[in-house]
Amino acid sequence: MRWWRRNKADNTVQHRERADKRFIKKQLRGITSLVNSKGQPNINEIWQIAKDIEAIKLNLKNFGYELALEASKGLEACEINGPRVVGLSSKASTQQDLESDWAAYWLDQLRTKVIYHRKLWEFAYVLQALWENDKIKAGRRGIGFGCGTEPIPSYLTSKGVEVTITDLPPNSEEYKKWHDTEQHTTNIKKSHHSGLVDSDTFERLAALRYVDMNDIPQDITGYDFCWSICALEHVGSIKKGLDFIENSLNTLVPGGVAVHTTEYNFANDDRTIDNWVTVLFQRKHFQEIHDRLTLKGHRVAALDFSVGSNPLDRFIDLPPYSHENNEFLAKQWPAAPHLKLTIDGFASTCFGMLITKAG
Ligand SMILES: C[S@@+](CC[C@H](N)C(=O)[O-])C[C@H]1O[C@@H](n2cnc3c(N)ncnc32)[C@H](O)[C@@H]1O
Repeated sequence: MRWWRRNKADNTVQHRERADKRFIKKQLRGITSLVNSKGQPNINEIWQIAKDIEAIKLNLKNFGYELALEASKGLEACEINGPRVVGLSSKASTQQDLESDWAAYWLDQLRTKVIYHRKLWEFAYVLQALWENDKIKAGRRGIGFGCGTEPIPSYLTSKGVEVTITDLPPNSEEYKKWHDTEQHTTNIKKSHHSGLVDSDTFERLAALRYVDMNDIPQDITGYDFCWSICALEHVGSIKKGLDFIENSLNTLVPGGVAVHTTEYNFANDDRTIDNWVTVLFQRKHFQEIHDRLTLKGHRVAALDFSVGSNPLDRFIDLPPYSHENNEFLAKQWPAAPHLKLTIDGFASTCFGMLITKAG
């Protein structure tokens, strides 16, 4: 076939495929919509099955939140002692951890009320890991990746630690998304939590540098520790996330410590999300990086894949996680606590890894 005829044929096929997709989309929208064009109930077989799913989700969510709020009352009574060594493993976020004296200690240090929220667990996990390894003291040097507006740099500088805060370069493709959702260290002031450290100390000890976690410059070396919270699942793929963990060790002195928290798809060993804005790691991926690093002489804190079995470990929250598209509900039902949730349909929670670089 001559090239222009083949081109014409290709174009026709593509045109037909696009038209088919548009048709299917329109049909599906027609079937799944709750109401028809006249505003009447859209009675059909799919509607019979699906019409109450949104309300069922909201009901489940509200029961879970009620459970979390009720249980949170007990947290206030938790005595703040410490810190103390608990021999932290590489592990998932659990209700038991958030009820522990070590989490209570670190969240108190961050001037944060303890609630059952996995983000608070991540903060407590990272600080406990650094403290247990003698890294939170004046004169130490640490570097954080994908820091956003987290309070860790402010807290560390309040203890005399010198901190390099890093985040995505503003000229990168993904920058806008993180900037527009207030999750990017657009300038160093975004990292300053005035309740944790005065501005003079913060300015003296903290510096901001833009670093792509997929391409850490070779001159970033000599740190006593590095960390990242909820960032390595956003670097493009499972492979890139695992490579980042390994590459982050290049920034450390021998015996330095890396602490990273990320997403853990705990209920499905078969399928997961990869090559996407948020990827979900499975047990086999944590095992893979554990084995890779151990072979090279690094020490990885023992892997503990348990996700806990307390009520809040078994409450898997469902989207929407905030009612940003529904102002009426957002005012009455603010974002609520959870430790487990679904991401693109997969039950997930946070997982922390603690690695000591070979000496
Ligand atoms: C969900 S936010 C977490 C922010 C902060 N660590 C926290 O826990 O609040 C993800 C962060 O990762 C950063 N990030 C995403 N991809 C990155 C990359 N390739 N290199 C460096 N940072 C990245 C984003 O800019 C953002 O600051």
